[in-house]
Amino acid sequence: MLKSFRRRLQDWLLAVEGLFDYPFGPKWNPMRQLGTLSFFFYWVVAVSGIYVFVFFDTTVKGAYESVEYMTVQQWYLAGVMRSIHRYASDAMVVTTVFHLLREFITDRYRGVRWFTWFTGVPILWFLYVSGVSGYWLVWDQLAQYVAIGSMEWLDWLGIFGEPIANNFLKPGSLSDRFFTLLFFMHIFAPLFLLFIMWIHLLKLNRPQVNPPRGLAFGCLLALVALSLAKPAMSHAPADLATMPTVLSLDWFYLFAYPFFDEWGPGATWALAFGASLLVAFLPWLPPLKHGAAAQVVPEKCNGCTRCFEDCPFAAISMQPRDDGRPFERIARVDPRYCTSCGMCVGSCPVSTPFRRTGELVTGIELPDLRLHALRAATDAALRKAAESATATAGGGAPAVLVVGCDHGCEIDEVEGQGIATVKVPCVGMLPPSFIDYAFSRGGADGVMLHGCREGDCYHRLGIRWTQERLDGMRDPYLRERVSRERIRTCWISHNEGRRLRREVDAFRADLQKLPAPDQADKKNDAA
Ligand code: HEM
Ligand code: SF4
Ligand code: SF4
Repeated sequence: MLKSFRRRLQDWLLAVEGLFDYPFGPKWNPMRQLGTLSFFFYWVVAVSGIYVFVFFDTTVKGAYESVEYMTVQQWYLAGVMRSIHRYASDAMVVTTVFHLLREFITDRYRGVRWFTWFTGVPILWFLYVSGVSGYWLVWDQLAQYVAIGSMEWLDWLGIFGEPIANNFLKPGSLSDRFFTLLFFMHIFAPLFLLFIMWIHLLKLNRPQVNPPRGLAFGCLLALVALSLAKPAMSHAPADLATMPTVLSLDWFYLFAYPFFDEWGPGATWALAFGASLLVAFLPWLPPLKHGAAAQVVPEKCNGCTRCFEDCPFAAISMQPRDDGRPFERIARVDPRYCTSCGMCVGSCPVSTPFRRTGELVTGIELPDLRLHALRAATDAALRKAAESATATAGGGAPAVLVVGCDHGCEIDEVEGQGIATVKVPCVGMLPPSFIDYAFSRGGADGVMLHGCREGDCYHRLGIRWTQERLDGMRDPYLRERVSRERIRTCWISHNEGRRLRREVDAFRADLQKLPAPDQADKKNDAA
């Protein structure tokens, strides 16, 4: 039931995301850049914060006036910076929360990804504390309301000898020393946040932390435009002799305070902790089961490090070897971090299907789909494609091999009339030599590679590595003599089956326009 519910959520998400492809294009689609945008907004907040700090007076008396000076007298620069600081902080909440939801809906939070998910929870707390502590510093009536609420909230825990809310009892009770302490909280919370953001990415190989430049520039422009159109303003100055009545809340950060007023500190703490614990332990409710972890074959591994470079989850390390073989290192897989994506098989130089003598074994094998089984499946598909191509009316249909990944469309639905398919856990598992093999040994007229949408590979790096191998930019790359016109890639999501059908038909039509491949060339290629 959970599976079908998630599938429905995914379909809904993909449909919404697809709409953003129209104005932004797949590469700049902000829905697929939520983690990188959160980083970007963090840096914008940091830079604008440093600027604002230059003008800020950290005394109780001077704080409000220094902020007013920025907002009114220097509205064109310091005022804009203040507004950017606020709006970028709000934007970071939005991108972070959507990022969390997206990772949940697309099922990228369980199994080996538990660490990345789990470390996201303290990020939420530090983000919240960073934002709320910023509101204290303006020392207007909103700051007064938020500071007193926060202190009462903390006091409920009973960890401070004397209630810290006493610092706000009456005019004059708030000292500059305490106010400076609040100021340091607003400096240290974001620094801790950055530290946890770094930890968050430790178990990912080559995490993408920067959004595409155009998207980043567009976001910055939007922030400037918003800051000019609706500058951030303060309320009236704080006055501990009165109770603020009408306040305009920033709902991105201050949403908890009305709950606090209504339910009191105990219930609010219980809700905050309960929700955090629930989110933190979601990866085990229920846990995700991966296939068997990749296994290194010591007799075949030459320690070239390609699998180590390519593994998306840093599950491979290179170890010194002492088994008498003339190589310094050997790959080792930590099964706790392996998602069985097979990308290491695709990157291993020993993974070539051309060998006919002896059993086909490569340097690193996926127990659920060993290299010899992948070649057998490819051979069977190539035979099937050739047979069905001959059987089509007129007998002239091109024979096309479609290789698709477990997270893409149901590729069997495009079979027939010269099309046959092979499925792999991730398209990055396919060694490029298999494409060469399909043409030179299997008589294919075309090869189509199909995987998740661009920028959205379920195994993170499968599309990127595949594309770079095809473009000759990454080892092992596809031999130059293989005609690129006969290879097509189709990066679309699992709910776009009809589009895959259309792409296959278009590819077949294009292949028919090409001159027949030279048989002599084929034999040379195979040699
Ligand atoms: C400051 C806030 C955050 C930032 C800047 C951030 C940034 C990122 C980045 C850059 C990635 C790597 C994307 C990639 O290259 O594959 C990532 C992955 C991830 N994040 Fe966050 N994140 C934040 C908050 C969170 C939160 C609150 C959660 C959930 C509790 C979360 C869950 C995840 C998960 C599960 C992944 C792994 C995705 C994968 O393996 O494909 N993140 N995050
Ligand atoms: S199967 Fe994937 S996750 Fe496992 S070691 Fe190979 S590349 Fe890494
Ligand atoms: S890619 Fe193959 S040969 Fe190279 S280190 Fe990994 S297992 Fe060994």
